[in-house]
Amino acid sequence: MNLTLGIIKPDAVSKGLTGKIIDRILSEGFQIRAMKLVHLTKKQAEGFYAVHKGKKFFEELTNFMSSAPCIVMVLEKENAVEEWRKLMGATNPAEAAEGTLRKQFGSSIGENAVHGSDSEENASIEISYFFNKLELV
Ligand code: CMP
Repeated sequence: MNLTLGIIKPDAVSKGLTGKIIDRILSEGFQIRAMKLVHLTKKQAEGFYAVHKGKKFFEELTNFMSSAPCIVMVLEKENAVEEWRKLMGATNPAEAAEGTLRKQFGSSIGENAVHGSDSEENASIEISYFFNKLELV
């Protein structure tokens, strides 16, 4: 599958970094197949991150993700999951490689600017959490 789900998280949207991040996504050869601005409810954030339920950061993560609007996108490229994870960089911006989005725009492990699916299986699940087939261009 050449699709993945990307999110520009509330920290990056609030700081006005959306344009810069989208510009980078396009210049790295991704196509945006769908995109929308959403303000998640706490319940929607809990549903999206259900795989992390029970972890010590779950409460903080779901509070943060429902605190302000974010941008959800379906990205297309060959090996999209892996390529988008490479462009994002390590989860913790302090450990992310130079030139990655999290290194450039993230400020902490929680407020790390972007999210991406971690496998093709999860990409399908995450894409269908936000988009139906008719919304994919
Ligand atoms: P994300 O790729 O959106 O997937 C789960 C998120 O949990 C992760 O990015 C981080 O922003 C957040 N998070 C907060 N604390 C931690 C932690 N200690 N370990 C991993 N992820 C964390």
